[in-house]
Amino acid sequence: MRRTRAHHRLASATPNAIRRAAAHLRAGRLVAFPTETVYGLGADAGSDRAVAAIYAAKARPRFNPLIVHVLDAAAAAKLVHFDARARRLARRFWPGPLTMVLPRRANAKISWLASAGLDTLGVRVPDHPVAIALLRAARRPLAAPSANRSGKISPTSAGDVARSLGARVAMILDGGPCRVGIESTVLDLTGRRAVLLRPGGVTREALERVIGRIAIAGTSSDAVRSPGQLASHYAPGRPVRLKARRPRPGEAYLAFGAVPRGVPPVALRNLSPKRDLAEAAANLFAFLRALDRPRFAAIAVAPIPERGLGAAINDRLRRAAAPRRSVKK
Ligand code: TXA
Ligand code: MG
Repeated sequence: MRRTRAHHRLASATPNAIRRAAAHLRAGRLVAFPTETVYGLGADAGSDRAVAAIYAAKARPRFNPLIVHVLDAAAAAKLVHFDARARRLARRFWPGPLTMVLPRRANAKISWLASAGLDTLGVRVPDHPVAIALLRAARRPLAAPSANRSGKISPTSAGDVARSLGARVAMILDGGPCRVGIESTVLDLTGRRAVLLRPGGVTREALERVIGRIAIAGTSSDAVRSPGQLASHYAPGRPVRLKARRPRPGEAYLAFGAVPRGVPPVALRNLSPKRDLAEAAANLFAFLRALDRPRFAAIAVAPIPERGLGAAINDRLRRAAAPRRSVKK
């Protein structure tokens, strides 16, 4: 039954199918599409709800930042700040299997959930005619992790996607097997020294020929980076207090469902009044950021159930609440 339904969502990537897929994306639904590396599970990168649906479909136990796919370097430059290295790398390797992590522009209309609350974005221009046609038709950046369930290997054919996620996407565009077959190289360019976060389709040597020496994340001691960069997850400046039924004086309150009486509106956000975990996931990082103000002593957070997306929400909340050394944002 499931299989049959999934089968109908699989469509050869004709111009007409691409138009339909773009309409799904604009309506906030998920579309799997081919890139030169692996198939991506795409959503409107500007929509918190659409991005939350990606995490739900993948059943990811936590929110990892997603790659934002764009049409070209000019579109990327509207979302992130390019430096000279990024410009050289874009000229040499885009379109292609290179993802660059760069500081996010203040006015970038990208879901905070897509970047898991970080003020950086991983951006890339895919080198695949179907991906490019889809980006052009959707007229917006697409957040897309590899189109597999969490913990499974990345799909390199439309059939792989159908078997893994078929029932959870509006459509799968079949563009044949992926040419590269491994994911993009992820390079962090937010610090003075470029850091390789994930090896992939573009080799480190090829990158070094363009921008010089690159450090490897978590290994080399010469990867001297500013403390802020060491945070691989969003860490609010305020302390975070979990499983709080109500705020203490001076605290802001992040509610889930019912709201305790007497909390002033400025100090309150409700992740989901109707206790919907997908809605809560969609709002999580934007609301944490909204409450992360020096005027509050701490952010108290309501208990969140551990089921479904609640596991990922709680994972991030526990990290946000973990005691930190000197690292402050
Ligand atoms: O080839 C690929 O990169 C495929 C296709 C679909 O483009 N996508 C892919 O996405 O592999 P995903 O979500 O499976 O892997 C994205 C990687 C993760 O390791 C994530 O941590 C990293 O990129 N990443 C994305 N944005 C980041 C950011 N702002 N900071 C640090 N790492 C980031
Ligand atoms: Mg992946």
